[in-house]
Amino acid sequence: MSELPGPIGAPQIVAPGAPVADDLPAGSTLADRYGRVATDLRVSLTDRCNLRCTYCMPEEGLAWLPREQQLTDDEVNRLIRIAVEQLGVTEVRFTGGEPLLRRGLLGIVQSAAALRPRPRLSITTNGIGLDRLAAPLRDAGLDRVNVSLDTVDPVRFATLTRRDRHADVLAGLRAAAAAGLTPVKINTVLMQGVNDDEAPALLRFALQHGYELRFIEQMPLDAQHRWDRHTMVTAGDILQSLAEFDLTPDSVSRGTAPAETWLVPGHVGIDGRPARVGVIGSVTRPFCGDCDRTRLTADGQVRNCLFATDESDLRGLLRGGRSDDDIATAWRVAMWGKKPGHGIDNPSFLQPARPMSAIGG
Ligand code: 5AD
Ligand code: SF4
Repeated sequence: MSELPGPIGAPQIVAPGAPVADDLPAGSTLADRYGRVATDLRVSLTDRCNLRCTYCMPEEGLAWLPREQQLTDDEVNRLIRIAVEQLGVTEVRFTGGEPLLRRGLLGIVQSAAALRPRPRLSITTNGIGLDRLAAPLRDAGLDRVNVSLDTVDPVRFATLTRRDRHADVLAGLRAAAAAGLTPVKINTVLMQGVNDDEAPALLRFALQHGYELRFIEQMPLDAQHRWDRHTMVTAGDILQSLAEFDLTPDSVSRGTAPAETWLVPGHVGIDGRPARVGVIGSVTRPFCGDCDRTRLTADGQVRNCLFATDESDLRGLLRGGRSDDDIATAWRVAMWGKKPGHGIDNPSFLQPARPMSAIGG
C-alpha cells in the first residue's frame, strides 16, 4: 500500500488519509517552510462551555461536536505522547471551549505529566470550577493556569458572558494561587463600549492579588463574524489607558512569547519579582514570525494556525489503525504547510469557519 518515500521523481503512493508533502525534509520536529519549529501544543479538550462570551459564542444555536467525533481520553493521550516523544513538543496547554468541563481531564493531565521528557503543562480556563479542581490538577501534574476574565464588575460580567458567574471565577483564581499554580495569569479582551474603560481597574485588581494580567487584542474569531478592525481596542490604546502606572519596558525579551511585557513600578508579584503586565497585540503587532504553536481540536484535527482555513485529520488515522509513525508524519506534513502569517490585514483574509470556542485559543 504505502511506499514512503517513493523513488525520486516518481509520484508518492500512500494510503488514503495520509497526506504527503514532496519537500518535507527528514526529521523529527514540527518544522515549517519558514524556519519555525512548533514545540508548544494546544489541545482543545471540548468545544462546550458554561459561559457565552459575546466575542466567542452566540447566545444559542451553536451546534456542539457530536460525541462520537470527539477524541476519547485514550486517543488524546496517544496524540500527546506522539507529540512529546516523537515530535519535540515541550509544552502542552489544555484549552476548550472550557477544558474543566472535560470529564477525563485529571487523567489526561496525569498521563501527560508521566511522559519523558516531561512537558510543561498548563490550562486556559474561564475559572468556573477551578476552586474545586485547582488542587487536584496540581496533584495530577499541572504547572500553571491562565484564567480568562474581562471585567472586575459582576454586572458587566453577566452581560459579557451571559451568565452570572463572576464570583465563581474569583474563587477559582484564589484557589489556583493557593494551590501554587503560579504565576496565575489573567487573560483579558477589551471591547469598545463594553469594557474598554476597565484596563486600570483590572490591573489594580491583578496587582492586589498577585495575578499577572495580559490583555489580548480581540481577533476575528467570533462565531457571529462581527469583528471589526476599526472598532477593536488596540495594544496602543491599552497602553495609553494605563499611563497612570508609569509602565517601563521589561528587559526580558519577548522571545517566542506573544505578550510584550511591562514592569509596574512600585509593585511586586506573589513570587517577589517585580509585577508585570502583558499586552498581546495579535492583530496590530503580530508575532507570527516567531510562532511555535501547533493545535489539536477536540475532534482530532491539527490546525497549524489559529486562522488556518484547513485542517489535517488525525482522528481518521487513529481510528484507521495507523501507526504512531504514520500519525507523526501526518502531523509533520500539516505543520510544514503553515502559512507565514495570519494575514488579517490582507483584503483576501478569510475568517476560519470554526469559532474560538472550537479552536481553543
Ligand atoms: N480574540 C481574542 N481573544 C479571544 N479569546 C476568545 N475569543 C477571542 C477573540 N476573538 C480569548 C479568551 C480566552 C482565550 C481562550 O482566548 O478570552 O482568554
Ligand atoms: Fe467560553 Fe472562553 Fe468562549 Fe468565553 S471565550 S464562551 S469562556 S470558550
